[in-house]
Amino acid sequence: MENVSNLKAIKELEEMYSIIEQCFLGSKLGYTYDQYPIVFDYIRKTRQRTLEATIHELVILIKKHLGRTNIGHVLDAACGSGDVAFHLPSEFGSNVKIHGCDISVKAIEEAQASAFLAKGYENLSYSTQNLLALPGSWDKKFDVVLLFDVLHDMGNRDEALKNAIRVLKDDGLLVIVDPKVSSNILENGNNPQAAIALLYSILWCIPTACCSDAHGVGWGFENKDKLMTKHRLQVVDRRELMGSPFDFAYFAKKILK
Ligand SMILES: C[S@@+](CC[C@H](N)C(=O)[O-])C[C@H]1O[C@@H](n2cnc3c(N)ncnc32)[C@H](O)[C@@H]1O
Repeated sequence: MENVSNLKAIKELEEMYSIIEQCFLGSKLGYTYDQYPIVFDYIRKTRQRTLEATIHELVILIKKHLGRTNIGHVLDAACGSGDVAFHLPSEFGSNVKIHGCDISVKAIEEAQASAFLAKGYENLSYSTQNLLALPGSWDKKFDVVLLFDVLHDMGNRDEALKNAIRVLKDDGLLVIVDPKVSSNILENGNNPQAAIALLYSILWCIPTACCSDAHGVGWGFENKDKLMTKHRLQVVDRRELMGSPFDFAYFAKKILK
């Protein structure tokens, strides 16, 4: 059975290669989650073993940096099929409302199916939303906004960050997790994890980024630092989760006027 699905995957990967090749030649036609979810399925499988422990460490740090215990709402923005959000109710407790949103209808349907199967997760909900135009009714609603493995794949990061900040409470915490790679690909030569990240990048980040005029994994931490400064965010901590450069977390607060 496993062999049959592996064969199917190889066939689908073959189809994707011609699209990927065009991305490297400057094409704007990559693929989105809805078009090639099988890629994401593979990436999900590789991180499943460590994800729960990663989220456990992440939430300990979130609570520490938020600096208060009254937490009402947490947003997992661009949550995909909810792999991260799924672990949040047990970490935050049943009084905290967790919401995940993504532009992909397919991803949200999958997320809702898994939340439904997990009994006792009444405080976990999902909706289809564009991160570039989050609802006005969400203004300053969330104590924590999480962008997990999102920004480096996005085209209009300025607008994405603006929306994330808009829906964050003034004393809330913005959390951004991306791979720890430099914006200058030559700087990544001595980083063995960057070589592995490049494979994921070729299969997922670059074709996704091509759809939206983004950079894929090559966006890097220098660009992120600049963007956060531009949007008046103060980074209170930055660190690898579980010692993995794949999950480099930034914890930031709004600089209020
Ligand atoms: C690499 S996936 C990460 C998903 C999830 N955060 C996780 O770590 O499992 C990036 C996600 O961003 C979503 N996305 C891309 N552009 C978006 C937009 N404008 N609004 C909302 N979601 C978007 C994609 O559909 C995809 O699910």
